[in-house]
Amino acid sequence: MADAPAPGSAPDWAAFAMACGACTRCGLSSGREQVVISRGHHEARLMLIGEAPGATEDAQGEPFVGRSGQLLDQLLAEAGLDPSRDIYLCNAVKCRPPDNRRPRGGELAACRPWLDQQIAWVDPPLIGLLGATALAGVLGVKSGMTQLRGQWLAGEGPLLGGRLLLPLFHPSYLLRNPSGAEGKPKWLTREDLRGAAERLRQLTASL
Ligand code: URA
Repeated sequence: MADAPAPGSAPDWAAFAMACGACTRCGLSSGREQVVISRGHHEARLMLIGEAPGATEDAQGEPFVGRSGQLLDQLLAEAGLDPSRDIYLCNAVKCRPPDNRRPRGGELAACRPWLDQQIAWVDPPLIGLLGATALAGVLGVKSGMTQLRGQWLAGEGPLLGGRLLLPLFHPSYLLRNPSGAEGKPKWLTREDLRGAAERLRQLTASL
């Protein structure tokens, strides 16, 4: 059984990729093409966590490279954010669920040590939670995305304490709700990402 490196260890992303790539902790391992770990910058101050890879991600081995990823990149660029410089992108679950169904609780739990290791090593002060699955998987909050989106939540506990977490609509939800009119989900997400970019600038300026 593959193990996540010990918490507190120095980042060794190559070893992480090897161990995570050999993971068989849940049944999703039997259907995957590849384990989808991350893209972006390992030292980014803003981490974005999505749900799970889709077909394109499973084929290419990187998160958010399909249609929802293209929309996400466009919205990030509009907010002045460059994933290769400003962001570390990953998912709550690293293997593609069959038929793109939502990951189950047991799959989220099985994958959590990998995500925790990514959070510990990237050590981002800011974390965006893309969609209800990431919100539930990371914070255990099972509903209320519409009310919570755009609000910075203070993380608690040894791993999340001292970090701010921002629930955001998932880009695939925005693909299903494409209106950019004021007050609609896409417009709200533009506002939320602009707010995240501003917070990131303030953080960087204070360093
Ligand atoms: N949706 C996700 O949540 N993550 C991806 O990587 C792609 C689509």
